[in-house]
Amino acid sequence: MNGPSTSQSRERERLATEQNLAVPVAAPGEFTPLELGSLRIWPPVVLAPMAGVTSYPFRSLCRDFGAGLFVSEMITARGYLNDHPITQLLASGHPDEKPRSVQIYGSDPIDVGEMVRRLVDEGVDHIDLNLGCPVRKVTRHGGGSAIPAKPRLMARLLRAAVAHAQTVPITVKVRKGLDDELVTFKNSGRVAEEEGAAAICLHARTAAALYSGTADWNAIGELVSSVNIPVLGNGDVWEAWDALRMMRATGCAAVVVGRGCLGRPWLFRELADVFEGREPATPPNLGRIAEIAMDHARRVVDFFGEEFGMRQMRKWGAWYTKGFANTAAARAKLARVKDLAEFETILRELDVDEAFPLRALTVNRAKRGGTQRVCLPEGYLDDLDDDSPPKSPHSPEELVAWERALTSGG
Ligand SMILES: Cc1cc2nc3c(=O)[nH]c(=O)nc-3n(C[C@H](O)[C@H](O)[C@H](O)COP(=O)(O)O)c2cc1C
Repeated sequence: MNGPSTSQSRERERLATEQNLAVPVAAPGEFTPLELGSLRIWPPVVLAPMAGVTSYPFRSLCRDFGAGLFVSEMITARGYLNDHPITQLLASGHPDEKPRSVQIYGSDPIDVGEMVRRLVDEGVDHIDLNLGCPVRKVTRHGGGSAIPAKPRLMARLLRAAVAHAQTVPITVKVRKGLDDELVTFKNSGRVAEEEGAAAICLHARTAAALYSGTADWNAIGELVSSVNIPVLGNGDVWEAWDALRMMRATGCAAVVVGRGCLGRPWLFRELADVFEGREPATPPNLGRIAEIAMDHARRVVDFFGEEFGMRQMRKWGAWYTKGFANTAAARAKLARVKDLAEFETILRELDVDEAFPLRALTVNRAKRGGTQRVCLPEGYLDDLDDDSPPKSPHSPEELVAWERALTSGG
């Protein structure tokens, strides 16, 4: 979990202070709710799907601070359809979760269509398709960010999802492209619009860029001008001010917040404040953060059980305390924590009066820097018009028959 270098952090800290002095809060009527089908999301703020992060406990914590749309982590269609217990748990929510939003990862139209059908039957209110994951184990099978390189395959997947969604809005989440040579976001926008997506989210980096550099907000603006569906802007919203700056600069319909809220769920309160035209409340001090971390841990233990839950809380312990003075020893203990009682004991040792430092705002809490060469199946880019799903468990004939049945209403 390497953050950026100290000089990068300082530079970000300096820019944050300079830029934010100049950002006015939202004026009345300046922004409107995000419309996704019949859903109205206010403020226009979305918790980004994040694997290992946005399961029900964290979603519910973020929601208690603010409002918006809170998306699950990516749920693998195969695991879900095979009733894999952990996948089912990760896909689940709670009756109090409204709207309930699930992100699907899959590269086979039958699997995706079937998963959408089941989720809709379960009462899910919004479904997102992951077409942006840059991780090797996903792209090497032709999934995630590899899919938009083949627009006809992307169309096929989206068509299968929309056909089974009834009135539930389907959105897609893409990156700018595979790398600077294969930039696909505008094509993805066209496909999304043609196939009936309710919105498109753009994480404004290529898959090769992973999480490095700064997100290219100009690309978000370009996508806004090239499609007639809402564009959700994603990348580098670290503070509530960034959300306003992104929406004003790009004209996007909502912001999608990822790493900025790791260990900072109160960011959703700050976002609600600025969109309502209020100055954001002062961030909590370390004592209050320890209480929030305990609340989070209890939710995680309720949901996942103590052993599995507390293993997950190890990384959260680091994220909640990062950037504060003299917390390294506590962080080392939190990284090995075994149960809730021990978690509480370690948090009690913290200096409760320490105010939230600016540097804690700008430290990177997850994902290393660095770039990659995107790993793809052998020959994947030879024919970009190819629409056959990679590694499909279904034969091409079975797939075509299934699609025919869709269009004939069967
Ligand atoms: C720990 C972590 C896990 C992620 N998992 C997913 C995922 O499951 N699905 C997805 O579409 N994006 C995933 N992402 C990408 C985020 O949704 C988001 O696009 C990215 O972090 C950029 O937004 P940010 O600059 O606000 O962090 C993940 C990011 C992080 C940091």
